[in-house]
Amino acid sequence: MIKDKEVVLSGIRPTGNLHLGNYYGALSKFVRLQETHDCLFFIADLHALTTNTDPDELHRNVKSILAEYLAAGIDPDKVSIFVQSDVPELSELYLLLNMHVGIGELMRTASFKDKARQCLGLSRENCSDSDDESIEKEIIGASTNKRVCAGLLTYPTLMAVDILAQKARWVPVGKDQLQHLELTRRFARRFNQFYGVEEFIEPDNFEFGDAPVKVPGLDGSGKMGKSEGNCIYLVDDPKVLRKKVMRAVTDEGPKEPNSPLSEPIANLFTLMELTSDPAVVQQFRDAYADCSIRYGDLKKQLAEDILKVTTPIRERINDILADDDYMRRVLARGADRARQQASQTLAEVRHIMGIRKI
Ligand code: TYM
Repeated sequence: MIKDKEVVLSGIRPTGNLHLGNYYGALSKFVRLQETHDCLFFIADLHALTTNTDPDELHRNVKSILAEYLAAGIDPDKVSIFVQSDVPELSELYLLLNMHVGIGELMRTASFKDKARQCLGLSRENCSDSDDESIEKEIIGASTNKRVCAGLLTYPTLMAVDILAQKARWVPVGKDQLQHLELTRRFARRFNQFYGVEEFIEPDNFEFGDAPVKVPGLDGSGKMGKSEGNCIYLVDDPKVLRKKVMRAVTDEGPKEPNSPLSEPIANLFTLMELTSDPAVVQQFRDAYADCSIRYGDLKKQLAEDILKVTTPIRERINDILADDDYMRRVLARGADRARQQASQTLAEVRHIMGIRKI
């Protein structure tokens, strides 16, 4: 098959094992795209530093994400896999692009407000989304031991650099990353207009004809996320996974035919739509509509269908983790390729911005 020349790039932070949100929002798309596009997939260790301060844990997580990438079917003979910090050109580009990024626009980013709140130990309730002023006050007035690090604020600049450095056209990510992609497009456009150049390509999210994915958690509300404690991990063994699914929050069941779905039940159906056969999903939807549904049956089915997806991945991970040489070779090759394009982009950007030899 002839590959599309358009570049695809995406990354995942090494902050723990990958969960179903990472899988359906990102990883499963990576595996499909590698067949048709020119792809680079990386491990965003510098981004992980914005929230992770344990060096040994970070190192362990980089290895486990790499093993999970490979176990899920990313083929290093078809794509480049690299660690972000192995491409030092990105750090200089990050410094340069930051000269064109406003502090205000970064402070208004939803993920920044969320993470800043977490750093300061504030709950959503006493600091609502619309209440920008109160969160700004908290950030500025925070004591030094509860500070919000500057790296968290400039997170979107680094993410934009990851993408723009490789001239990527497509960025497969989950719904939660769309605001960061919007900022990337804005920064690219601003840079091009400011200098009157066509240096950067404006990237888009990649979906296979579906709407952007937001995988819900098992706790009845919100998205699946490491910091939410509501995850099913690709490495969960069958016993753990079944237990998690059986404990998922539900409601008291439909009282009348064709009742609307409550949020916890809608979430279970969303998970089922991702993992189960459409005919099976329909069967449970019909049972809900005529009030004959038994949530225990639905959960049992869901757990088995999730296991069909995760088991082959889980079974390959340990073999890969045991082979350091192989992992090193994969990353060295990936870094070489990523550095080639990044150093070219850096040379162009330096020149455009006036950093030139006398
Ligand atoms: P991270 O590590 O938070 O998440 C990695 C990918 O998983 C997706 N994801 C989800 N998708 C659907 N439902 C969920 N519950 C869910 N949870 C996570 C995320 O959307 C993401 O695609 N900023 C990025 C890492 C990054 C990056 C980049 C991505 C750094 N530079 C450049 C693309 C291009 C992040 O935080 O990923």
